[in-house]
Amino acid sequence: MSAIQPPPERVWWRQPLDRMEVTWILVALVWCLVMFFMMPYWHLVGKQNLANEAYRTTPEAYLKKAQEVVDKFTVRTETDMKIPVVHPPEGSDVYLTARLWTWWPILELETGKSYRLHLMSLDWLHGFSLQPENINIEVHPGYDHVLTVTPTRPGVYSIVCNEYCGINHHTMSSRLYVK
Ligand code: CUA
Repeated sequence: MSAIQPPPERVWWRQPLDRMEVTWILVALVWCLVMFFMMPYWHLVGKQNLANEAYRTTPEAYLKKAQEVVDKFTVRTETDMKIPVVHPPEGSDVYLTARLWTWWPILELETGKSYRLHLMSLDWLHGFSLQPENINIEVHPGYDHVLTVTPTRPGVYSIVCNEYCGINHHTMSSRLYVK
């Protein structure tokens, strides 16, 4: 049988499988299963697949909570856009909002302290990619995505959007301070 011409016998699916074909199907199947079980394995052993919670919410409700945290814990503003830099106390809920094409506010966290980081998009899909760490999270509209984070190294990290979100996708970046 060739892939270009139609099969000479119309009822080709009754013909026995060639050994080569079975072998390749098994190779592909086993590899799919290996990759599938790597996901829970990496969740437990690796550091990339973070455990998260997600709650349905609305942009208004989310923004209200984000605004409360900004009002309480802003320590300064940065860039021409006067983006607030929020330095929240240990253990608190911190909100990072994605929208076309900015991240709001800027967070300033402390090494060795844990925070509940909330992520949400106000319009459509964005991606939270923390550089140079290998952390990648999809940021969805309509869902408050919560992660418990404990920064381990001080520094200035970059946040870049890694889901294509329109004409200014490439400018959608921000920073994260860890003291
Ligand atoms: Cu936001 Cu790409």
